[in-house]
Amino acid sequence: MTYLVTGAAGFIGSHLVDHLLARGEQVIGLDNFVDYYNPLRKRRNLAQALQHRGFTLVEGDIRDTETIVTLFERFRPRFVAHLAAMPGPRPSIANPQLYESVNVGGTLVILEQARRADVEHLVLASTSSVYGKTNRVPFREDDNTDRPLSPYAATKKAAEVLAYTFHSLYGTPISVARFFTVYGPRGRPDMTPYLFVERMVRGQPITLFNGGENLFRDYTYIDDIIAGVINALDRPRAYEIFNLGHSQPVELRRFVSLLEQITGYRAQIETRPLPATEPPITYADTTKAAQLLDFVPTVAIEEGLERFWAWYRAEINR
Ligand SMILES: NC(=O)c1ccc[n+]([C@@H]2O[C@H](COP(=O)([O-])OP(=O)(O)OC[C@H]3O[C@@H](n4cnc5c(N)ncnc54)[C@H](O)[C@@H]3O)[C@@H](O)[C@H]2O)c1
Repeated sequence: MTYLVTGAAGFIGSHLVDHLLARGEQVIGLDNFVDYYNPLRKRRNLAQALQHRGFTLVEGDIRDTETIVTLFERFRPRFVAHLAAMPGPRPSIANPQLYESVNVGGTLVILEQARRADVEHLVLASTSSVYGKTNRVPFREDDNTDRPLSPYAATKKAAEVLAYTFHSLYGTPISVARFFTVYGPRGRPDMTPYLFVERMVRGQPITLFNGGENLFRDYTYIDDIIAGVINALDRPRAYEIFNLGHSQPVELRRFVSLLEQITGYRAQIETRPLPATEPPITYADTTKAAQLLDFVPTVAIEEGLERFWAWYRAEINR
């Protein structure tokens, strides 16, 4: 079966590509290698996949209709995992137009060609950020998501809504997967733990919002996310939204202590007030994903950070 993975060279996309190839699928990976972070890292993410006969890399932009039309005509993907996006709530403040054009406009191009091609299922990557600052935890898929705190979150919410419209108009089967703070090997350098570990190793201070107290993130290990996405892809639905999170929020203060224990480096902590883009807590209710996708996160934060640290050391010693 042929799968299209957009954002294939990114952190989550490259893991998805490797897993699909390992089970014998044909995978078309699309990416524009945008320099949000070092594109060479993205090339390295795909090193294994590029050795594989089942993999084809298409370098292009999801906003470029001609590229996407040609891709669908040439490769006829039956399943689509749409992960390409401009990520990150805080950077989106400086350039909301870019986030809108990629995350909304680009998603529209993918949705349009996916429905024309009558794909069997499209999985859209969304985010816990759509929940904004909510008073009720854990977050459930039917909670109100009308008050996103950043342009990034607003564009991801807009993409979810557009996806619903395409499903409603054309019957395209679509699942939306809301990821909660994903971490692990190949992790994005703008996210913890990469950002913190790098600064700790270099003896530089790290910034903890509110000193890391009363600030919780539902860290979710990459393999658990991939298992959820694959199960979602394998089970076409009319239109559903799923939380994919570990459902065990970790206080940032404790998160840093764990990093100190695992790496043996001390963190110098600078504290800053919580920016308006950041909710105090993210916390996934995964009841729905457990019921419909058999989603059961298995990697505890201690184990996941050990694996991340092993990867990071190998990475800096390259
Ligand atoms: N990492 C997380 O914790 C997290 C949490 C919630 C949601 N998400 C979502 O998951 C998806 C993947 O995130 P990630 O962490 O792997 O980020 P990433 O930046 O590592 O991967 C995204 C990839 O998309 C590519 N891309 C960006 N703009 C493109 C364009 N116009 N055309 C083609 N390719 C383009 C980038 O080059 C990159 O390789 C995104 O949709 C993101 O919003 C991630």
